[in-house]
Amino acid sequence: MQNWAPLTAENTFAGREPWLGVAPSAIPVSKDAHTPKEMSRDDIAAVVRAWSEAAKRALQAGYEICEIHGAHGYLIHQFLSPVTNKRSDAYGGDRKGRMRFAIEVANAVRSVWPGDRPVFFRCSVVDGKGGIWDLEDTICLARALKDIGIDAIDCSSGGIQGNSAFPLIPRVPGHHVTYASHIRREVDIMTIAVGLITDPRHAEAVLKGGDADYIAIAREAIPNPNWPADAADTLNGDGLALLPLDYAYRLRGRDRTTSGYPHGMAVTIPLIEKRHEPYAWFKRSGTAARDVYSPLLNTAKSFET
Ligand SMILES: Cc1cc2nc3c(=O)[nH]c(=O)nc-3n(C[C@H](O)[C@H](O)[C@H](O)COP(=O)(O)O)c2cc1C
Repeated sequence: MQNWAPLTAENTFAGREPWLGVAPSAIPVSKDAHTPKEMSRDDIAAVVRAWSEAAKRALQAGYEICEIHGAHGYLIHQFLSPVTNKRSDAYGGDRKGRMRFAIEVANAVRSVWPGDRPVFFRCSVVDGKGGIWDLEDTICLARALKDIGIDAIDCSSGGIQGNSAFPLIPRVPGHHVTYASHIRREVDIMTIAVGLITDPRHAEAVLKGGDADYIAIAREAIPNPNWPADAADTLNGDGLALLPLDYAYRLRGRDRTTSGYPHGMAVTIPLIEKRHEPYAWFKRSGTAARDVYSPLLNTAKSFET
């Protein structure tokens, strides 16, 4: 995809063959997209090997958690969903057949990833509008993944659309929490909830309610990359403990120097030894996770002491 449109022959680098996608079945994603090549058994074996090689590289690079992306219409999800998998061999057909590729990939990764480091599996718990793969299928997949040592299911949705009556998932805060909760309780495996969770109190309620073991945030981390520290501050006032030592040192110093000046306190700003200017300020709260301080428009003239 480029600019959210399928790749076409024009996207090919000069002198190169057009891209040829591979998929469980030769079904184009839309009418103007390439028709992918149906994967042979050799293609499947090569991709499974590539997953274990990639996991080894991630380990060498120092990653502590490995997450397999089996969601959002990518290859593993394409094997799972009957919308995109029309194979009649051992990798298609019934649910067990369609799950085979996911399980082989998960096994290949788990076997090279150290036992004391977790492997997560990200899945689309349901296909998406008009899809066929649903919660019951994911529960079955999660049981099989748990059996081979996968530690947590990262519960997302969507990526494959079809013609069924399956509706669109409402985009409300925490719209995947219900999925994380069902899988956690019915499979007894750790789950991760993601999707419009932006308020630390909402995140905490999801964890405390036993609906998920982890909260993942994506877009909210763009404006606020220190979201975990902000959340810790909001919930129990110790966000600094999550920051690098030097940042925490500077912020503690800021808190020390400002603690003697209660909100709204009138002060004077010295200009020269005997000339000061009054300054007043107030707190505007409730606009964001953090309070905002604004100076009052100050028309008072400076005065001599
Ligand atoms: C522009 C965009 C690109 C994304 N790309 C990926 C991706 O490559 N892999 C993935 O697992 N999720 C991807 N996501 C989904 C996010 O990981 C996350 O599940 C989603 O944004 C919902 O969580 P949030 O409301 O905290 O952002 C993407 C989301 C957006 C908006």
